[in-house]
Amino acid sequence: MQLETELLQADSAGFARASEILRAGGLVSLPTETVYGLGGDARNDHAVARIFEAKGRPQFNPLIVHVPSAEVAKTYVEWSHEAEILASAFWPGAMTLVLPIRSGAGISPLVSAGLPTLAIRVPAHPVAQALLEEFDGPVAAPSANPSGKISPTLAEHVMAGLSGRIEAVLDGGACEVGVESTIIGLAEEPTLLRPGGVPTEVIEAALQVKLHQHSEGDPLTAPGQMTSHYAPGAAVRLKATTRMSGELMLGFGDVDCDLNLSAAGDLTEAAANLFHHLHALDAKDASGIAVSPIPEVGLGLAINDRLRRAAAPRD
Ligand code: TXA
Ligand code: MG
Repeated sequence: MQLETELLQADSAGFARASEILRAGGLVSLPTETVYGLGGDARNDHAVARIFEAKGRPQFNPLIVHVPSAEVAKTYVEWSHEAEILASAFWPGAMTLVLPIRSGAGISPLVSAGLPTLAIRVPAHPVAQALLEEFDGPVAAPSANPSGKISPTLAEHVMAGLSGRIEAVLDGGACEVGVESTIIGLAEEPTLLRPGGVPTEVIEAALQVKLHQHSEGDPLTAPGQMTSHYAPGAAVRLKATTRMSGELMLGFGDVDCDLNLSAAGDLTEAAANLFHHLHALDAKDASGIAVSPIPEVGLGLAINDRLRRAAAPRD
């Protein structure tokens, strides 16, 4: 299906049009504070199936549902004490909770790929908030990139990857956080399913427990942990100190490089730049991208997680 993808401005006409498209079962890419999402009505099986289709994503990858408030989230999932603590501390924001789905909640089973749990979050971006309010329903939205490609942090990235495959992109400028939400599983013991925009240590401090770590061999995983999920076209070499021939260098700190994640060595700035810079270097058709070492603390964990996926052998 070849569509004429509309680029909508973040104003009342844009929100009205985006909401009308969602109501009709269409797909709208919306900005969140983490990355752009590829949104569809989470109650509409057809819309959800189209999300998988547009992304070319494997069907077993469940999606995150976006709602305007914790109050609304509680109508879709079985709430818990831990959920209350984390939602009060970090919503709206870059954290997703995985909780048991409430029976009769009306969410399409395709959203959770048949799992009895649902990933849900309240985004902080004012444009996402405005659209959720106007639409007045749950929006399923994975990151708005074709499967296996880098997550988009600008409306232009979405247009480049999905134009012709979705109805519209709502332009909200650059995403501030730049990496996806941290995913916490609460259906059993609190588990880190994916590192992301809210540092793990901060979540552990709020819960006053150490999170269980998801490990690759665990039976039910966050399938977004699929190894080559964030792959640019060029081969990626990590912990590099110099360029090899044919490589471009993605730096961190005071180093000679083609683009620097943060010359000052600031991990928040590096996270915000990560996908922008990977896109920019990948667009230059180099044979490889060499990346400076990034410290494994705070947002560095999420950045290294993405970089390791980008560097993993491709299937
Ligand atoms: O920041 C974000 O989280 C962005 C923005 C758009 O909100 N969304 C995002 O969605 O990154 P996506 O679909 O690219 O990643 C969703 C992750 C996947 O790794 C998926 O496997 C996991 O959430 N997930 C979804 N439902 C789950 C469930 N019931 N149990 C375990 N993992 C789940
Ligand atoms: Mg994704």
